[in-house]
Amino acid sequence: GRLRHSLTQGAVQIIQQTSLPLVFCFARRALIDLSVSAMAGKTAKIIAHRFGSKDAPETTLAALARSLELGVEVVEFDVQMCASGELVAFHDRDVRRTTNGFGPVKDLTLAQLKQLSAGAWFDPKFADEKIPLLEEVFAMVDGKAILNIEVKNMPFDWPEDKLLASLDRYAHRDKVIVSAFDHRCLARIHRKAKDLKLGMLFDGLLGIDMWSYAARIGATHWHPWFEFIRPSDVAEAHSLGIEVNAWTANTPEDWALCLAFGVDGIVTDDPAALKLYLAERSGPLTP
Ligand code: G3P
Ligand code: CA
Repeated sequence: GRLRHSLTQGAVQIIQQTSLPLVFCFARRALIDLSVSAMAGKTAKIIAHRFGSKDAPETTLAALARSLELGVEVVEFDVQMCASGELVAFHDRDVRRTTNGFGPVKDLTLAQLKQLSAGAWFDPKFADEKIPLLEEVFAMVDGKAILNIEVKNMPFDWPEDKLLASLDRYAHRDKVIVSAFDHRCLARIHRKAKDLKLGMLFDGLLGIDMWSYAARIGATHWHPWFEFIRPSDVAEAHSLGIEVNAWTANTPEDWALCLAFGVDGIVTDDPAALKLYLAERSGPLTP
């Protein structure tokens, strides 16, 4: 157990330090095989990215319902403020890619957004799906899963007090993680609502001590891109009580890496496949 674990960690470091692509390819495969055996019984929370986007259109109540049905532990989604001031669940800055409309979310009123189909682009059978209000997400989840709410506020900022006011009306704020790439926003939220769990999103590593930085902004969670993690970072985070949720891993190879790294949660577009993958690995190992 412990020896195999440190062997795996050593292998990860060696592979990360080599620069030969071919060696990397084979080594990565070997690591995956090793990690799968070393990580038998090891698991992580399933985090449905944009509510899950494989079987239903991303960030719609249909996708959310599907993930709740699957019993995922966490659902991730993005919030933005629209022109009439309401908070809506939506990823892109512009509605063009995932609706039948066009224009930035910040310039469209709720009435305009609600006229759009958020599902027809994915499959005609989802044509009636609309862009959800944050409050509609709260009503459907109602404590059945942890909410990972990502504040999407760049390049256009909106007041985080809007989100805090909505969270004051949600009965399960203990089952909420607010995450953002905007760590200044996280720090402001921490000053205003000390009880909220906060996830600092990263797609790189800091040049200063990550954990005193996390303490300064009040982060309880580290949300790195899964390609930018070292097992030693995860171990350090854990020793300080910081949970690690890695995004966005969509293949068995990537999930094996995440498990080998020891992350607490894996953000994925395909929660059903990850659930199957984890279930297959939860039994005893055959030699
Ligand atoms: O959970 C982090 C991940 O969602 C960040 O990327 O662009 O999908 O919001 P994006
Ligand atoms: Ca997101």
